[in-house]
Amino acid sequence: MLIKEDYRARIEFIDGKFIKTFKEGSVLQEHDGFTEEWKDHINNFGRLYGHFPEIIEFHKNKLVMEQVHGQSFTEFRKQSYKSSVDEQIENFKQMQFYYYKFICNLLEYNLKNKCSLIHKDLNYNNMYISNENWHHGANKLVCIDLDAVKLNRWRVPHSFINFPTQVFQKDAESLELQKQIQLMKELQNRLDKK
Ligand SMILES: Nc1ncnc2c1ncn2[C@@H]1O[C@H](COP(=O)(O)OP(=O)(O)O)[C@@H](O)[C@H]1O
Ligand SMILES: [Mg+2]
Repeated sequence: MLIKEDYRARIEFIDGKFIKTFKEGSVLQEHDGFTEEWKDHINNFGRLYGHFPEIIEFHKNKLVMEQVHGQSFTEFRKQSYKSSVDEQIENFKQMQFYYYKFICNLLEYNLKNKCSLIHKDLNYNNMYISNENWHHGANKLVCIDLDAVKLNRWRVPHSFINFPTQVFQKDAESLELQKQIQLMKELQNRLDKK
């Protein structure tokens, strides 16, 4: 089944696996860091902590990965919008918890292995929350888009790693505002009743 196609790649779901086929100009070059060592670190980190799907096969124009079971942060947020502000705040806190647990494990892995593995395209679409079908367990942040994972290209972890904290900030401020509005309305109602 074709999932997505753009000028860079075609993503298909075949026999329970995700296959990303890269087009000319976007192939995975060895000199860009796409090496066996790169793949081994991704699979090692994935095996230990469950935050990455396994790379089953890769070469210049193809990346075959196992399927991540769960829902993306985008889907999780969309569902959350339908619930009360209080529930949205709880969901947001949970999302942050999954994210920082992942970051904590990634930093631990990098320290222990004296390497610098980072994901350069962390966003709400590329971060999943696993469900019970994920063999590493439910409620873990699992990253997809593994061609955005870099090994030892950037040696100093930064901006963290590499999901702009401003994105969380914006969501947090929006929820804070909604909660304040709700509290003000409740206060107004109580005053009106007096
Ligand atoms: N390993 C995977 N498990 C589950 N879904 C995946 C996986 N890899 C890709 N997908 C699906 O394919 C879509 C595009 O894949 P992605 O690698 O993020 O491509 P792009 O570089 O275009 O963002 C994702 O949003 C997701 O729906
Ligand atoms: Mg993506």
